[in-house]
Amino acid sequence: MGENKFATLKFGDKEIDLPILEGAVGPDVIDVSKLYAQSGVFTYDPGFTSTASCESKITYIDGDEGILMYRGYPIDQLARESDFLEVCYLLLYGELPSKVEKDKFVKGITYHTMVHDQMRGLFNGFRRDAHPMAIMVGVVGALSAYYQDSLDIDDPHQRMVASYRLIAKMPTIAAMAYKYSVGQPFAYPRNDLGYAENFLHMAFSVPCEEYNPSPTIIRAMDRIFTLHADHEQNASTSTVRLASSSGANPFACIAAGIACLWGPAHGGANEAVLNMLNEIGTKENIPEYVARAKDKNDPFRLMGFGHRVYKNYDPRAKVMQETCHEVLAELGIDDDPLLELAIELERVALEDEYFVEKKLYPNIDFYSGITLRAMGFPESMFTVLFAVARTVGWVAQWNEMIEDPKQKIGRPRQLYTGATERTYTPMHKRAHD
Ligand code: CMC
Repeated sequence: MGENKFATLKFGDKEIDLPILEGAVGPDVIDVSKLYAQSGVFTYDPGFTSTASCESKITYIDGDEGILMYRGYPIDQLARESDFLEVCYLLLYGELPSKVEKDKFVKGITYHTMVHDQMRGLFNGFRRDAHPMAIMVGVVGALSAYYQDSLDIDDPHQRMVASYRLIAKMPTIAAMAYKYSVGQPFAYPRNDLGYAENFLHMAFSVPCEEYNPSPTIIRAMDRIFTLHADHEQNASTSTVRLASSSGANPFACIAAGIACLWGPAHGGANEAVLNMLNEIGTKENIPEYVARAKDKNDPFRLMGFGHRVYKNYDPRAKVMQETCHEVLAELGIDDDPLLELAIELERVALEDEYFVEKKLYPNIDFYSGITLRAMGFPESMFTVLFAVARTVGWVAQWNEMIEDPKQKIGRPRQLYTGATERTYTPMHKRAHD
């Protein structure tokens, strides 16, 4: 990053030169880190829409062009030609693995998939109707109680052990959360299966029957994981970074990321898309709902449309749409009414002036919900699957942050607009009404 260009900020009688930093690609950033010390003012940026919170080498997004790259590799190439564990390696280590490196990594992850057997008892403490994300937040946080030999964030070896454990155990915990909710016995992981197939096995196999998903379904699961693996400084990743900036342990920090992901504006959106499609019901009702989405006095929004960063077609949505068609064809669902409704809704919205003008395109969640439902997952599991996939992104960003010599505790400031100093009034002197 070069520091030879400056932006000059003038206000009052002050004139301050702020360094301009250049990234490898993408917009330059104005370094305001010393602004307060130099001038006594803060910057104001609710929602961090204009703020780069860190330097990162992991994921690059160009929202206007609809580009997403992990470590420089375009997402559609990775989704089509690579596999999820290779992508995990890439995100963690920065380069594609050699055959030997990949085999070692796959083995390392595979042999960490079991959870401490006492953790099975944890699940019984949850109500049967608990949302699986509520279970995930609790159980993933609880990993810090079971794996105390990988909590020292200053030890690179312990950090890597914690990273492997998180990537490996997340599908096991997610499948256990699902099994618990449907009242079926937990299925132990199988080391002879790949990451995605093993997850499907733990979610859908039962002791009395074989479960043999087709290669198309396994591939779709793997692809869904790849498409969701990282997305630079989104809300949950920023949450993980902020939580870990205090030195908190990795399991607690990832649990914080899961909590953030749960919200409908973030990971909860694909669940919200299906709820919305069910509510719309038939194609005839689409105009009414599109009108509601445009009405500023109505809180309704078209779920699965719009993105903070993409002001173009979400590049993940293209691959997701293809995968959706493949899965439905494989399962013989050629007339899914929800898919037909979704395609029609997409068509109407993309031709509507409001959506065109505001650059609101379908995002990945628009098609992932339909795909996951066809694969047999209930809506409440959608965000859980997102969490399984995003764990590697959180972990890679967490490692990067800890290794960054510029890292310090995250501590935003504020524009205070509350009461100015006043004197405490005892109760008997306050107004009585
Ligand atoms: N339906 C109707 N209007 C919308 C929508 C929508 N889905 N999304 C944005 N708008 C409007 C919004 O009302 C605003 O209008 P105006 O400028 O007149 O006030 C304008 O478009 C810009 O929206 P914004 O809320 O300022 O944009 P944002 O960057 O803060 O929000 C978003 C991004 C994803 C939260 C929002 O588009 C949204 O709520 N979408 C639906 C939920 C969804 O699909 N979320 C999944 C995101 S992708 C998965 C992930 O990466 O986590």
